[in-house]
Amino acid sequence: MEVLTTIADVRRRLEPHRRSGRTIGLVPTMGFLHVGHMELVRRAREANDMVVATIFVNPLQFGPNEDFARYPRDMDRDQAMLRDAGVDILFAPPVEEMYPAPLDTAVDLQHLGSMLEGERRPGHFRGVATVVTKLFNIAQPTRAYFGEKDYQQLAVIRRMVRDLSVPVDVVGVPTVRESDGVACSSRNVYLSPEERAAAPVLSRALAEAEERIAKGQRDFIRLRAHLEAFLVREPLADPDLVEIRDAATLNEARAESEAVVVLLAVRFGRTRLLDQRVIPLPRSS
Ligand code: PAJ
Repeated sequence: MEVLTTIADVRRRLEPHRRSGRTIGLVPTMGFLHVGHMELVRRAREANDMVVATIFVNPLQFGPNEDFARYPRDMDRDQAMLRDAGVDILFAPPVEEMYPAPLDTAVDLQHLGSMLEGERRPGHFRGVATVVTKLFNIAQPTRAYFGEKDYQQLAVIRRMVRDLSVPVDVVGVPTVRESDGVACSSRNVYLSPEERAAAPVLSRALAEAEERIAKGQRDFIRLRAHLEAFLVREPLADPDLVEIRDAATLNEARAESEAVVVLLAVRFGRTRLLDQRVIPLPRSS
């Protein structure tokens, strides 16, 4: 595995492969890798000739009161994991390489970027869509891999690719979980032992939603209220976002939706955990 820190080096190294028609799989990350990230790498490895992973803690997508400065980092461990997984190129640029001067250009999704997480974290998806656009232009991948755990992020990237005719296949990868159902996340290390023990309440709430929908519940306003009450029964959990949306558009779920997505963001002390589940609505025949 080659570790590169400049845009010019990535272009130079990939150019001959692109010219000989090899496929390139891109896995963008902010590092502090876990088995969820490694599943994206595995999927990229099995489907592409070349795998490029990126590690860049992107300041543009953090709000002023968010955890940019204290975001966990462990470059040595990350490099060893990526090397073992057969990654060809790791691109890990310093901030000055990606943003030598303040940007005057941004990729902004007016509707999809400002709802839900975007409403709670203004500018977040502008930062994500802008850095991902830069990474796409740097690596020019055939396919790019993103987790369903960050469901709105995946929707934002799919939409951006469609709207701007970006020549890349976006591949969504199902959420990888720990044995008690907690979605793997770099931010799980922030949790105290008590908070970590309480965290499975998210996946339990998702199972509860699935069960109620399977039993025919289609009153999503009531279901949402029920899930909120379910979550606050866990004393350490402070729900910030509990929404049931149309899985394709992220607009309000309707009984006619083909599938809904339950989106959760729950605070445990200073740590905010996300989880999500897509639930198909079977047609009643
Ligand atoms: P990061 O949080 O490091 O996540 C990198 C990728 O791993 C994202 O696509 C995310 O959805 C995926 N991922 C995280 N946890 C996962 C899990 N438990 N199962 C499956 N996939 C998981 O998301 C970002 O970084 C950034 O916003 C980024 C896209 C790199 C842009 O800066």
